[in-house]
Amino acid sequence: MGNKKILVTSPLLPPLKELQPYLEKIWESKWLTNNGHYHTQLEKALSEYLKVPYVSLFTNGTLPLMVALQALRITGEVITTPYSFVATTHALWWNGIKPVFVDVDLATGNIDPNKIEAAITPKTTAIMPVHVYGNPCDVEAIQSIADKYGLKVIYDAAHAFGVEENGKSILEYGDMSTLSFHATKTYNTIEGGALICHDAKTKEQIDYLKNFGFAGETTVIAPGINGKMDEVRAAYGLLQLKHVDNAIQRRKAIADIYRKELKNVEGITFFQDLSTVKYNYSYFPIFVDEEKYGISRDRLYEKMKSKNIFARRYFYPLISDFSTYRGLPSSSKDNLPNAHKLADGVICLPMHHELEEDDLSRILELMVK
Ligand SMILES: Cc1ncc(COP(=O)(O)O)c(C=O)c1O
Repeated sequence: MGNKKILVTSPLLPPLKELQPYLEKIWESKWLTNNGHYHTQLEKALSEYLKVPYVSLFTNGTLPLMVALQALRITGEVITTPYSFVATTHALWWNGIKPVFVDVDLATGNIDPNKIEAAITPKTTAIMPVHVYGNPCDVEAIQSIADKYGLKVIYDAAHAFGVEENGKSILEYGDMSTLSFHATKTYNTIEGGALICHDAKTKEQIDYLKNFGFAGETTVIAPGINGKMDEVRAAYGLLQLKHVDNAIQRRKAIADIYRKELKNVEGITFFQDLSTVKYNYSYFPIFVDEEKYGISRDRLYEKMKSKNIFARRYFYPLISDFSTYRGLPSSSKDNLPNAHKLADGVICLPMHHELEEDDLSRILELMVK
């Protein structure tokens, strides 16, 4: 067994020779961006793959969050989770919206619907949950609270590419959902993302907003932004769709091995998969209980590093602990006990399609010993 570097992820790349003909077409056409041929094709292909009718491509996964908030005219306060990547809350901040953090459910890492109502004030206009690690939120419970109080729901589904529950895409829930196609994600377009909505008129509005608000050559109907995906990345994205299922299958096999080998290790726990959910195996988070495991999460993390195994502590620290958000009343530790418990114990183990049996043995040997 060697000592090669094992990284938490490795990007899925389409074979270079498959990309070449696409690049030649782009060079021939000289149409590089602004709703080009491959952009149109990828929106169509993704809408079929993801089983949702309306997909608007973006240049990353942060801009669709920003645009969703603009399109739905969200203001005031938005209820969200501290257990996510910081972009979720930054999108609110950039829109002048106050985030209100609600604690998470220990079984999924997602916002706990039972704690949402207590956080609603007259200024609340929306809920922005995250399907963290691709684990589906309790979408029914969240929707019934939203309906009761007249709130919008925007799902940050950055991790939830292709995730389904009871045969239905998780992206069908809420008013809108956003995806990230960042290089580290299960499906990537290097940088990229999408905004999912449920009707043609809203898609049209989103498409104006991601193109500076232009609704014609000389008409600007809103203060839009530049969120457009270019032709090269759209073509790359089309190719990725041919390979992503194999990559997900390999990830599933790795998750099965981790589960099997770690299930009896005292002090190490992980989320349980539900039989009703089709997962994408984006991440494999484990949670270390220092007392039972014998060493702390950080000791284990450092030990891995010393053996050239680079896991990551997603999501530690909590967003509510970053300087921008620390002063908010909802950021207090007492308000977020479960989120702190997860953040203090988590390590995301290496998870990608290129991990080999030897790599897994090295990781597991170190953890099980
Ligand atoms: C939960 C979550 N939301 C939003 C984003 C932002 O996506 P992007 O990096 O594509 O802008 C990420 C990216 O990693 C994320 O993990």
